[in-house]
Amino acid sequence: MTSRSRGQGLVIASDELPALEVAEHTKEKEFVIERIAGIFNAGMRNLWNRRYYIDPFAGPGMCLIKGTATEIDGSPILAAKSRAKFTDYFLADKSPDCLDALEKRITRLALPEQTSVHYYQDDADMAVSRISKDLPPARSSLGLAVFDPWGWDFSFATIANLSERRRLDLVINFPIGYIKRNWEKELPKLDMFMNGTSYKEPFQAAMRRETPGEMPARVLLDSYTGELRGIGYEYIRDHVLVDNSRHRTLYCLIFASKHERGADFWDKVTQRKQSGQLRMLL
Ligand SMILES: C[S@@+](CC[C@H](N)C(=O)[O-])C[C@H]1O[C@@H](n2cnc3c(N)ncnc32)[C@H](O)[C@@H]1O
Repeated sequence: MTSRSRGQGLVIASDELPALEVAEHTKEKEFVIERIAGIFNAGMRNLWNRRYYIDPFAGPGMCLIKGTATEIDGSPILAAKSRAKFTDYFLADKSPDCLDALEKRITRLALPEQTSVHYYQDDADMAVSRISKDLPPARSSLGLAVFDPWGWDFSFATIANLSERRRLDLVINFPIGYIKRNWEKELPKLDMFMNGTSYKEPFQAAMRRETPGEMPARVLLDSYTGELRGIGYEYIRDHVLVDNSRHRTLYCLIFASKHERGADFWDKVTQRKQSGQLRMLL
């Protein structure tokens, strides 16, 4: 396969469309997303005939593992390939190149005729506010949303507004490594991501090692999952950690549901890593 550079992080894949150039560890994230989308639909199709999927950081639908010729599907394509299908897809990205490539890849999948697919080329906060106006009626539908940013690119209020009075499970790529590297910059955006400033003092103290035994990652996760509980997410999991090749944690895939069944699904699909190894708790 030949690939040439195309803007930030984009290369041309073997299907002649842009793909995200990513590191090896991305495989673990996509493995989990593929499996939760699969079990969500398989487990719920007889109970809910309207099941929607929201992906505000959808990307172009394909990733190329850096330094290799390995191509893997991105989150929206994995969701669309799920054997039992979602009925409605709400896909967004702020990059027009990504969204255009994604639309072409989704079209090639030839989804069942009755499936509806909506695209939004917009910043995630704005896209989600547009998406929430287009969603199926809350009473008769069930949703899964995957928030997969590079950093703290959406505000907590976006999740709070989107999920209000909805049965919507969440998978959130919580960027532990990025926050630990960049917390001294762009603080107002980080505060919006974390839903306020209560995380700040304990987190900064942990970063400065003033509170022995307090891990900065744990402080952040406890604060964030506490905010999720505050908007009605009773069943939360934060044990899926993705590391880089030097065993440093890059991010946590947080799962949140308002229903026990959602957490059961997550526990089932995340018990083992892609390698087959049992997952350790943080
Ligand atoms: C980590 S990648 C997502 C990968 C995708 N979920 C997958 O599995 O292949 C992040 C994506 O978010 C987009 N992006 C970055 N900042 C954004 C923002 N503020 N709003 C919406 N999209 C954004 C980028 O163009 C990129 O495609």
